[in-house]
This record gives sequence, structure tokens and C-alpha cells, in this order.
Amino acid sequence: MTASVTSAPAIVRTIPEMRKAIREYRSQASPGATVGFVPTMGFLHEGHASLIRRSNLDNGLTVLSIFVNPLQFGPNEDFERYPRDESRDLEVAAAAGADIVFLPSVEEMYPRRTATQITVAGVTERLCGASRPGHFDGVGVVVTKLFNIVSPDRAYFGLKDAQQVAVVERMVQDLDQPVEIVPCPIVREADGLAMSSRNVYLSADERREALVLSRTLAQVPAWIASGMTAERLEAAVTAGISASPLAVIDYVEALTYPSLTPPAADVPLSDADERLIVAVAVKFGRTRLIDNILISVPEA
Ligand code: PAJ
Repeated sequence: MTASVTSAPAIVRTIPEMRKAIREYRSQASPGATVGFVPTMGFLHEGHASLIRRSNLDNGLTVLSIFVNPLQFGPNEDFERYPRDESRDLEVAAAAGADIVFLPSVEEMYPRRTATQITVAGVTERLCGASRPGHFDGVGVVVTKLFNIVSPDRAYFGLKDAQQVAVVERMVQDLDQPVEIVPCPIVREADGLAMSSRNVYLSADERREALVLSRTLAQVPAWIASGMTAERLEAAVTAGISASPLAVIDYVEALTYPSLTPPAADVPLSDADERLIVAVAVKFGRTRLIDNILISVPEA
């Protein structure tokens, strides 16, 4: 028989057990074998699965973490109602090829209030950093803790959360955290909606209207090629999204990536020599969705 059957991943719930599993793997694995790590908050979908599969290709062992991190949710955000489904997640994890699933409790990760803060200045000033104060501080702490617990060689992050990638890359560089960050492409539904655990919140009407995000962002390369400045482009994207009566825009911004600073004003974006991101956050009912497109300008 061939090894086409996916074996169930090992489930680990405590920090000492997680460290022991990695120690054991490293002591038995051939020299040069690497550990890949995919941090998530669960309610897994094909976007998460793509990160697990990529890690599996690159590494001898893949660790997936599932932890809804209270520190990165604001007081009026959806921590309590964030979707959770452990048994389904374990099936997705097994099918995608995770070797170990780390599922700590809140008490395991935060036995007491965390006194240590991680603030990555600059790249957190705009976009979700501006509209979700403290969010990236919470991401910084949990990602650092998880890196310290799992000690991976590589960690896989989706460009769905492009600002998160920029924040984590900068934190890792500034603090010499010994891990390589691997950014991975956005996975979309067949009709273009970026996959997200939060998509389950959408009503049928909202789900249909939410397509305005990917449809509008798909026009960005042509708009840049036509000579638009950042200001013009932001206005065009805003107008495109506003065509949906259910869309309530939080932000629409064209920035350089990964510095997340505004490009020179009054200069056509097609003349920029840096990568650009056009990022949006839009509410449909109670559900806030984000999406973005990254552009290497010479290609536009
Ligand atoms: P979560 O939202 O569960 O996402 C986990 C990882 O999956 C992130 O790197 C995210 O960018 C990636 N991802 C989500 N949707 C994706 C899509 N459609 N295509 C590609 N990748 C996608 O991001 C977090 O959790 C948390 O902030 C975390 C990093 C785990 C820290 O708590």
C-alpha cells in the first residue's frame, strides 16, 4: 500500500509537552531537518490549509497552532463569538498534513496578566493598526510566545493579513528572533471572496455584496497602469466599493509595502519603484472584512 492515507496529527495542549515534542523530533530527525510552524486562530479553511501544505513541502515537521488570542481583540470586538470548531479543525489539519496541533487554553498561554508589551512602531500606524488600537501589540506577544514555545525554523503567514506579515517580519528582524517568515498568497473562494473564518458571519445578502471587494481590487492594476496617483486610486476604489449599498468602509489605502507609508503624492503610481499595496477594510452588517492587492509596479 502507498502512504496516501493521512495520519491523525498529535494533539498537544500544554507548553512543556509542546517543547518536549520538538526536542524529541530534533533529536531523532536527520541533520538539517527543519520545523515549520503555522499559527492560526482555528475555524480552518483552505487559506489555512494552503499554509500547512506549504510548510509540509519545506520542512520535516509541521506544527499548527490553534489559539483564539484574547490579547489581540479589542473590548468591543468578537473574541467571545469568534467561531470555534475543534473537531472539524482537526480533520482539516490531518487532511492538509499537519504533524502536531498545539491547542493551548487561555490559562495555559496567559496564567497571569502579561506585563510585557511588544509594539512595532511605524508599520502599525495605518490600516488595521489605526482602526484596531492594540491589536498588533497582542499579535506581537502571542506570536513571540508561540515562536519561543515551538522554536520553528520557518513560520508561514498569509498575505490576506499583509499588515500582519509586515509587522511580524519587522519584529523578527528587530529582535533577532531565529525564524524565517514565509509570506504566502491569498486563497479565495471560486467567486473571488478572500477566505476568512469570519465569512460565516455573513448573511446571504452580505455574502453576495462582499464580492465588491475582490471585484474592485481586481481593477487596481489597470487603474495604476492608466497613470492614477494614490489619491485618485483611493477615490476610484472607494467609489467601486460604495456601489454596494451594504458596504460601510473603514479604510481604503494605497501604500508602499512593506513599510506601509504613503507613496509620493502627485506622482503616478506607475512611476513608483517600490511595491505597493491597496488595502481595504469594509463592514457588511456586523462583519468587518479585509482584503488587499500587492503590486510590483513595473508589472502593472
Ligand atoms: P487567523 O486569522 O486564523 O489566520 C492564520 C493565518 O492564516 C494567518 O497567517 C492568515 O494570514 C492566514 N490566512 C487567513 N485567511 C487566508 C487566506 N484567505 N489566504 C491565505 N492565508 C490566509 O492571523 C491570525 O489568525 C492571528 O493573528 C495569529 C497570527 C494566529 C496570531 O494570533
